[in-house]
Amino acid sequence: MLLKSNLTVSNCEMMKRDTLPQQKALIADWQTLTRTFIRPENELAKSTLIKYMEQILFGLHDFLKKHVGFTKEVSLKELADRFTDTLISEHPEKKLADVITDLIQDIAPHAVNVASPYFVGHMTSAIPFFMVHLKTIVAALNQNVVKIETSKVVSVVEKQVTAKIHRLIFRENDAFYHEHIQNTQTTLGCFTENGTLANLTALWVARNQRFAPKPGFGGIEKEGIHAAYQAYGIDRCVVLTSRRGHYSLNKAGGLLGIGNRNIIAVDVDRYNRIDLNSLNQTIEKVKGGKERTAILAIVGIAGTTETGSVDPLTDLADICTTNNIYFHVDAAWGGPTLMSEKYSHRVAGIELADSVSMDGHKQFYMPMTCGMVYFKNPSSLDAVIYHANYINRPGSVDLGIKSLSGSREANSLILDSALKIMGSRGYALLIEHGIETARQFAREIDNRPNFQLITPPELNILTYRLYPSVIEEDISSGNIERIGRANEKLNHINRTVQRLQREAGHSFVSRTTLNTGDPPGQDTVVLRCVIMNPMTNLEILREILDEQEEIYRKTFIT
Ligand SMILES: Cc1ncc(COP(=O)(O)O)c(C=O)c1O
Repeated sequence: MLLKSNLTVSNCEMMKRDTLPQQKALIADWQTLTRTFIRPENELAKSTLIKYMEQILFGLHDFLKKHVGFTKEVSLKELADRFTDTLISEHPEKKLADVITDLIQDIAPHAVNVASPYFVGHMTSAIPFFMVHLKTIVAALNQNVVKIETSKVVSVVEKQVTAKIHRLIFRENDAFYHEHIQNTQTTLGCFTENGTLANLTALWVARNQRFAPKPGFGGIEKEGIHAAYQAYGIDRCVVLTSRRGHYSLNKAGGLLGIGNRNIIAVDVDRYNRIDLNSLNQTIEKVKGGKERTAILAIVGIAGTTETGSVDPLTDLADICTTNNIYFHVDAAWGGPTLMSEKYSHRVAGIELADSVSMDGHKQFYMPMTCGMVYFKNPSSLDAVIYHANYINRPGSVDLGIKSLSGSREANSLILDSALKIMGSRGYALLIEHGIETARQFAREIDNRPNFQLITPPELNILTYRLYPSVIEEDISSGNIERIGRANEKLNHINRTVQRLQREAGHSFVSRTTLNTGDPPGQDTVVLRCVIMNPMTNLEILREILDEQEEIYRKTFIT
């Protein structure tokens, strides 16, 4: 907080002398405090602020260049030891300029440079520089999209951009969008804080539709799960998704009261897509079991978190139609592939879903965080309507009426602006770069004797592992025990190399464990690469592999 200096002795005593030994004491002073709601305290403070904002807005990439990743330079323990203060100082400790200096000098160097083209391990990456500007404007406007009284035009813009993405997914005709785009009674989707809440919202709607009010029963939202099961004559309710489903679905199972053990993981095929035979068998088993079971939804995935695989969405839609099951597609990752004419076929069938979730902070390249969920039927969100006396009154156009969130920032302004700045073609170029670079990388891995490609990229995620030729002999020996031991050794090598590379801080790939069925019953530790940074190219990826080989040699061959 930027507050007035004052040398009152008593106030001085209130300060923490060790943090400000040389400085004048600062006190919480009403006049100065109120000025901070309007402008920086003086011209000097203003110019300092502008200088820092310039650095943040235009130079953060350069600034972070030296700090690629989660390095070992300063351990997490050392950092934790620096942040152990539990007392809120009564009076201001620092001026704004000092706080910004601290953030830039003490915090940023120990943050992770997710913008580095060598940072290819997670779904968090570089964002176009203009996103920081847009985010700043959103913060400055400070609109609250829960209601029209605190957002006015922003709610209307949000309805428009919601319709744009809805159209990208469901491709309804002009008349449909003309009817619904600004219709205050219908809703094509809603913004959430992230993909987790987008998936939760979709399953919330599915649950409330499945256990809708009927004579003698007020609906599950009102009466709860026990009454719902009684009213509908069932003992249990399940959601079916692939083994590669995101764990947010399990959270939804817990929150919605159906129990996360009832989020059933169906086996995948060798491409990590849901196995349709297993799915059909699971449906039959569930229907024929002793417990009277309702299948709440099938969740198809357009871009699984670990392998980037896309489930056969058209087939899933058919199965849902045949069995009268709600169909949700988790496209948190792969949804924006729809903007690429070249690759949109890879998520074909998405338009058949009842609902689709997407993340703005993933392949829409928005700053953290933005989730969205879209519904084919503009009345679907009626299943989760809430009103309050002071806002969201019946008949009002407040977006908060049909939304899991209460107060919410105007993320839609960022998405709307970004779509204007980039165009769908701009986004397509990014998506295509990711998919094509991943494919080149897969070929490179295939060509290297010490590596093994585990899951080829369907979109822009692939997994592989170090697979030194010496160990390959054991693996191809045919002796089960020898193979098992070799696989454990491979797992150990890959875990170690991933950790040491991360700690070295030049580059970052992540690691996960897949149950590939080879060898049977054993897990396979794999390195996971997510390519979304347009600056990441094959040269950089080769360097990353070289470094991994080097680490392996130094650590395991002495
Ligand atoms: C496929 C998929 N769904 C859902 C999520 C959850 O998204 P979020 O982390 O934004 O909550 C993720 C996150 O990685 C994801 O990959």
